[in-house]
Amino acid sequence: MKIAIVGVSGAVGQEFLRILEERTLPVDELVLFGSQRSAGRKYNFRGKEIEVKLLQHNDDFKGIDFALTSAGAGTSREFADTITKHGTVMIDNSSAFRMDADVPLVVPEVNPEDAKNAPRRIIANPNCTTIQMVVALNAVEKLSHITRVHVSTYQSASGAGAAGMAELEAQYAELGAGKEPTVAKFAFQLAYNVIPHIDVFTDNDYTKEEMKMFHETRKIMHSDIRVSATCVRVPVMRAHSESVWLETERPVSVEEVRAAFAKEPGVVLMDEPAEKVYPMPLFIAGKDPVYVGRIRKDLTCDNGLTFWCVSDQIKKGAALNAVQILETLI
Ligand SMILES: NC(=O)c1ccc[n+]([C@@H]2O[C@H](COP(=O)([O-])OP(=O)(O)OC[C@H]3O[C@@H](n4cnc5c(N)ncnc54)[C@H](OP(=O)(O)O)[C@@H]3O)[C@@H](O)[C@H]2O)c1
Repeated sequence: MKIAIVGVSGAVGQEFLRILEERTLPVDELVLFGSQRSAGRKYNFRGKEIEVKLLQHNDDFKGIDFALTSAGAGTSREFADTITKHGTVMIDNSSAFRMDADVPLVVPEVNPEDAKNAPRRIIANPNCTTIQMVVALNAVEKLSHITRVHVSTYQSASGAGAAGMAELEAQYAELGAGKEPTVAKFAFQLAYNVIPHIDVFTDNDYTKEEMKMFHETRKIMHSDIRVSATCVRVPVMRAHSESVWLETERPVSVEEVRAAFAKEPGVVLMDEPAEKVYPMPLFIAGKDPVYVGRIRKDLTCDNGLTFWCVSDQIKKGAALNAVQILETLI
């Protein structure tokens, strides 16, 4: 099998390399792509140095079975035809095609069968905050239909890519040295702060990130579920956290939900509050599953339930989910 990674120098691209090393996929050849910025750079994969090629409109994708793309929505839109024209299946991490009717939006634990119907040979990887939430919601949906969700997210700096991580690190160093912090990637200083603003604002005053959680959840779960989100950037380096409140058609007990989470593929139950056992991003970073804890009945609504959910968004929220889609296909 011949695989390409497009955007290998980025936060998600680097995770692709690590995940392909870790897993047992039969990769006969790996081809790496980037822009002018990283073309010519070399990365090690399974003991071999591979040079990054410049992504261009040519026939470089001929013979490549799968392209794992994470180079932003503009690049995906511009190069989709070039990538897929010789039969390559493009598994795309960007938001470019997620809501297109003829592009499946897939989380393998939730809707793996959708991946089989990709007439444009493009499969979209959902938004990172949506992926971890639907993996958890899927366990509850099997008990009773979820009608609505309120969610507040606590999103790490790495959600904004390699530059986001570098900016947070630099800000703490600058502040520690008594200097003015550099603010470029985020709207404000993130160090010692939280910013209730991710992506651009839309006409209804929700951000694009928040509306992705509304629309993408419905598409993945094939559901009329409504999601009202507040997405917040926090000074955490890696792994996103979410405080989720949901309402089901029939009341479900905390015990039922705990049992459902415990047996749900891709979910790890971490819920022993008396022992201070609950998931936190510092300790979940680098891990594969979606962790849930702090499960409680909602105090304002008989059919309501609330829980806390943490996952490494570069892994399950991006690279790992895309590789799992590839594994589903083969
Ligand atoms: N970070 C996350 O948590 C996360 C989660 C889910 C989805 N995503 C999505 O994944 C994509 C990448 O995110 P990231 O966080 O990895 O960003 P990043 O760290 O900023 O990396 C961006 C990558 O895109 C490449 N690139 C940009 N323009 C290109 C072009 N014209 N041709 C070829 N390569 C190009 C860059 O290569 P050069 O260095 O060569 O320019 C770099 O490898 C985005 O669409 C993002 O929305 C990110």
